[in-house]
Amino acid sequence: MTAKVAVIVGSLRKGSVNHVFADALAKLARPRLDLQIVEIGDLPLYNQDLEGELPPAVQRFKREIEAADAVLFVTPEFNRTFSAAIKNAIEWGSRPWGKNSWAGKPGAIVGATLGAVGTAAAQSQLRSVASAIGVALTAQPEIYLNYRDGLIVDGEVTDESFKKLLLDWTGNFADWVARLKAPTLQF
Ligand SMILES: Cc1cc2nc3c(=O)[nH]c(=O)nc-3n(C[C@H](O)[C@H](O)[C@H](O)COP(=O)(O)O)c2cc1C
Repeated sequence: MTAKVAVIVGSLRKGSVNHVFADALAKLARPRLDLQIVEIGDLPLYNQDLEGELPPAVQRFKREIEAADAVLFVTPEFNRTFSAAIKNAIEWGSRPWGKNSWAGKPGAIVGATLGAVGTAAAQSQLRSVASAIGVALTAQPEIYLNYRDGLIVDGEVTDESFKKLLLDWTGNFADWVARLKAPTLQF
């Protein structure tokens, strides 16, 4: 069985290392996980006044999250936290009241920076927000990627030990998704 994972990439720029990282993970995760990037760049800034009739981009976004078996956040670190683009997507996914598209999804967080911190601060803050919207996150292994040129070429990870770590990570995430998707026991 292949589980469908909605991937939220927190950087909107062309050439984003987080985008490159997400594409590489998608390759390594097959066939157990089908990682599909969900567009967040077209979402308007969250405004409660727009909740009466949700903008088309928001409706499309919520449908894609709801159709997925799990979610994966791939975050850059901006000023020691996760990106505003992710926070905006989180707001829309969680609203209107009673229509939280995230609720009960298994999930995971990874991230890449060009700096030595490797998104540790961003991931830590995103973790607390994800728990508030009802996403059940994996704990270990964690991946804080300090990206360097040549690490991922044409979607392939060139460093064998890092590739092994990512394969372990994808296997662990697939196990987590399978466990949380298991039918609830009836007594
Ligand atoms: C506004 C801004 C703030 C940043 N703050 C941090 C930071 O706090 N920690 C860090 O490691 N890198 C920081 N960086 C560097 C980013 O890690 C780097 O630009 C990275 O390439 C962003 O991810 P992307 O390539 O996916 O866009 C910052 C970059 C920008 C543009």
